[in-house]
Amino acid sequence: MPEGKPGSARPVRVALLGCGTVGTEIVRLLTDQAADLTARIGAPVELTGIAVRKPNKHREVPEHLLTTDAAALVASDVDLVVEVIGGIEPARTLLLDALRSGKSVVTANKALLAEHSADLFEAADASGADLYFEAAVAGAIPLLRPLRESLAGDRITRVMGIVNGTTNFILSGMDATGAGYSETLEEASRLGYAEADPTADVDGFDAASKAAILASLAFHTRVTASDVHREGISAVSASDIAAAKGLGRTVKLLAICERVTQVAADGTTTESVAARVHPAMIPRSHPLASVSGAFNAVFVEADAAGEMMFYGQGAGGAPTASAVLGDLVAVARNRVVGGRGPRESAYAGLPVRPIGQTPTRYHISLDVEDRAGVLAQVAAVFAEHDVSIAAVRQEGRVDDASLVIVTHAASDAALRSTVDKIGGLPVVRDVVSVMRVEGEEQ
Ligand SMILES: NC(=O)c1ccc[n+]([C@@H]2O[C@H](COP(=O)([O-])OP(=O)(O)OC[C@H]3O[C@@H](n4cnc5c(N)ncnc54)[C@H](OP(=O)(O)O)[C@@H]3O)[C@@H](O)[C@H]2O)c1
Repeated sequence: MPEGKPGSARPVRVALLGCGTVGTEIVRLLTDQAADLTARIGAPVELTGIAVRKPNKHREVPEHLLTTDAAALVASDVDLVVEVIGGIEPARTLLLDALRSGKSVVTANKALLAEHSADLFEAADASGADLYFEAAVAGAIPLLRPLRESLAGDRITRVMGIVNGTTNFILSGMDATGAGYSETLEEASRLGYAEADPTADVDGFDAASKAAILASLAFHTRVTASDVHREGISAVSASDIAAAKGLGRTVKLLAICERVTQVAADGTTTESVAARVHPAMIPRSHPLASVSGAFNAVFVEADAAGEMMFYGQGAGGAPTASAVLGDLVAVARNRVVGGRGPRESAYAGLPVRPIGQTPTRYHISLDVEDRAGVLAQVAAVFAEHDVSIAAVRQEGRVDDASLVIVTHAASDAALRSTVDKIGGLPVVRDVVSVMRVEGEEQ
């Protein structure tokens, strides 16, 4: 396409699928910033139609653009399809149809990407179309493009982040007030920070989808949501939070994606990928500890670049629409000047390591009888399972005592059997809390 006056090129024709929280803001930004977008792209953006379920509901957008026939809109003469419907179907079929017919796609749909990115990329490759999805992880925060492009020359070793605002709001609230989980969830719902059905957030499904996308990009390997070990926050108690505080830590729901390198006795190395979502104690001095409320932050470690943190608004209509518009501009520029954005990079094909083999540190808090020899009995069980103890704190009370143990890195499997056996010791009254510890030297 020859360079000419900004906007002299043929318009980039865009179909929008969905006009809810995010879609409404996309329409607003496309309208408010039309002149700037034209200058940045080198061609005007023409919104040709908006697919919704209930057109009567959408008084804020021009009526002639609305349609309930999303498939016909996708099949029409458009260059680019923006999908903000959410869920797997009909989004999957619509986007595959778009990509197969050479139309580029911008989507915010983490659930779809985390399960079906291989099919979507395959369809994009077959027709030469673009597939961009910055808004699918961490809302407004530019994160996927840095992983896909800026860090493409480096070797990423770890991505650890807070990628779900609802759970972070709840855990920050519990930390600030000392209140329990249910009470704080009710407060989050009342203030609009939790959905009527909060399952996807509090049980970690949303974060697991995001972890799958992050791991795939960081390690050039296909990782799906079902590969991600997932634990939610509903079992986090006020005593877990208090125990964390007592040790200068706080509890966060973390998505952790790691490259694990194992060296065999003969010196050969094998690499694998581990991806997990679970609550964990982190030191209050860790950069992620100060991320409170509905904010997101992701900490990335790479061999040459070192440590980086990406921080900002992880959800909400306007912040998410900002990320979608950034993708839209990138795809539209590719259309105008020719060429494509990055394709799927899954060449490494690393195996995904099961959680049972993934070493992490643990904090274990026990209610025990206050008498001599208790610590020795408990320590013997740890030794028996080859779980090494890093620190112990023992506090006596009137008729019982508490024992807090932090381990060195141990496998989940070894820790589970240790805790099961300890729970059965006659001197142990209760296993009060077992939680992983992150953000410290192993
Ligand atoms: N909200 C956020 O903060 C956020 C942040 C990051 C990513 N995302 C992602 O962005 C996407 C959209 O989220 P959202 O919060 O904007 O959702 P939403 O408010 O529920 O909006 C969904 C839209 O899709 C339309 N729709 C649903 N089924 C449809 C169908 N079969 N055909 C045509 N239109 C259909 C709905 O139409 P009606 O309005 O007529 O019902 C509605 O306009 C999801 O993938 C979500 O995960 C959202």
